[in-house]
Amino acid sequence: MKARSSFLIVANRLPVDRVVGADGAAAWRRSPGGLVTAIAPVMQRREGAWLGWHGAPGEEVKPFDHDGMHLVPVPLSAAEVELYYEGFSNATIWPLYHDVVATPIYSRVLWDAYRAVNDRFARAAAEVADENAVVWIQDYQLQLVPAMLRKLRPDLRIGFFLHIPFPPVELFWQLPWRREIVEGLLGADLVGFQRPGGAANFVRLCRRLLGLQHHRNEVELDGRRIRAEAFPISVDFSELDTLVREPSIVARAKEIRSELGEPEHMLLGVDRLDYTKGIGQRLKAFSELLADGAVKPGEAVFVQIATPSRERVEEYRRLRNSIELQVGRINGEHSQLGHQPVQYLHQSYNRRELAALYFAADVMVVTPLRDGMNLVAKEYIACRHDLRGSLVLSEFAGAADELKQAFSVNPYDVEGMKRAMLTAMRATPHELSRRMRSMRRRVATYNVDRWAGEFLAALEGG
Ligand code: ADP
Ligand code: F6P
Repeated sequence: MKARSSFLIVANRLPVDRVVGADGAAAWRRSPGGLVTAIAPVMQRREGAWLGWHGAPGEEVKPFDHDGMHLVPVPLSAAEVELYYEGFSNATIWPLYHDVVATPIYSRVLWDAYRAVNDRFARAAAEVADENAVVWIQDYQLQLVPAMLRKLRPDLRIGFFLHIPFPPVELFWQLPWRREIVEGLLGADLVGFQRPGGAANFVRLCRRLLGLQHHRNEVELDGRRIRAEAFPISVDFSELDTLVREPSIVARAKEIRSELGEPEHMLLGVDRLDYTKGIGQRLKAFSELLADGAVKPGEAVFVQIATPSRERVEEYRRLRNSIELQVGRINGEHSQLGHQPVQYLHQSYNRRELAALYFAADVMVVTPLRDGMNLVAKEYIACRHDLRGSLVLSEFAGAADELKQAFSVNPYDVEGMKRAMLTAMRATPHELSRRMRSMRRRVATYNVDRWAGEFLAALEGG
C-alpha cells in the first residue's frame, strides 16, 4: 500500500459501502453512482487515492485498497455526524443553496463542527498528497477545504466541484459565515459548477463581498487567478444503454407492468426523499387529474420510488409524514378494488431494478423545486433506446439546460403540471421518438467521462 498519491479525490463519503456477506463477514462494495463510475478509471490509471468518511460514526478505519483505488477513511464522531453532516451541511447549506425552499438553520455550534471537520479533511489530504499532486475536492460539505489545504500545501493543484446549485448573491448574503465560505472556495485553482448561472453567481459574489477584480470568469486573489466555470455532470450512458437491453431487464420491465395491472399509462418518480424534489407537487397535480376526471380510474398508475435520506434531519421527517399522508388520501379517494392509483415505495433499489422501472415507464416525472443537475432525468433518457417514453422535467433542474425536448414544467404551477402530464401521456409515438432521439444524442455525447475529463483538463491545463 502506498503512502502518497499524485491524484486525490476528497469527498464527504468514500466510494464504497460496507456490506455483510452470506457468511456474516463484512466486506466493502463499490457504491453505485455516477461520480464513482466516472472517477474510478482515472484513479486506477493514476494510482489515485480517495479520502472520505466510511459511513460509521465513531469508528476509526485504517486506509485500505479496493478495486484499484487507495481509500483513506476520515473518521467522524457521532456528534460530528449530527452537527457537521446533518446540521451545517444538510440543515444550513442544503436549504440555503436550494432557493431556501426550507428555512436554513444558522447556528454557531453547527458552524464550529463544520469548520473542525473540514480542517480534519484538509490535514488528511495534506498528508496523503504527493509533491505537486492534483487534488479534486467534491461538494458543499467541504467548502473550506480548498483554502485550508492550500495553506498547508501551496504546491498542490486544487480543484473543487459543487454538485448542488450555487445561489444568487441576495440569498447567499443571509449566511453569517458568507465570507469564510467564499474564501474557503477561493483556495482552489478551479471552482466547477453545474450551470453557468452558478459560476456567474460566484464571480459576482467575489466582487460584491470581497471587492475582488475579475476578468470574465476569472477572479484574482493574492496574485493567483481562480477560474469559475460550469461542467454539467452526466451519467454513464453506455453502461445504462447496454444494461437495459439485457433480456432479463426487458422481461422484468414487462413483469412490472403486469404487476401494476397493465395500466394504459405508467408514470414514474424516482428520488431521494428530499423536500427539494417536488414530490408533493407532482402528486397533487396527478390527484387533481383524477379528481377532474381527466384521467379515468384504472387508466394510469403513478409509481413513486422515494429512497430514505437524511432521516434524522427534522425537515426530512416532516416531509416523509406529509408525503405518506398525501399518498394515503389520494389512494383513499381514488382507489378501486384491485387498483391503487399511487404506488409509493420508500425503498432503495439496485441498478437493475431501476433500469427495468425506467424501461417500463411511459412518463418519467422529474419536478424538483431546485436541483443542481438531476441525474435521474438523464438515466431515464439513457435507458430509452426504444425511443418511447416521455420526460416531464422541471425548469428548475440543471438538466433542463440540456434536455430541451422534455415536456418542461414549473413545479409551482399546478395547472401547468397537469397540462404537461396529460400532454406527455397523450403524445404520439412519432412525437416521442423525435424528442427522445435528440435528448439521447445529447446525453450520449456529454456523458460522465466527458464531465470528469473536461474538469481535469481545465484544472491541469489552466
Ligand atoms: P441527488 O444527487 O440529489 O440525490 P440525482 O437525481 O442527481 O439527485 O441523483 C440521484 C441518484 O440516486 C441517481 O443515480 C438515482 O438512480 C439514484 N437513486 C434515486 N432513488 C433511488 C432508489 N430508490 N434506489 C436506488 N437508487 C436511487
Ligand atoms: O448531490 C448531492 C448529494 O449530497 C451528494 O453529495 C451525495 O452523494 C448525495 O446527494 C446523497 O446525499 P447523502 O450523502 O447526504 O446521503
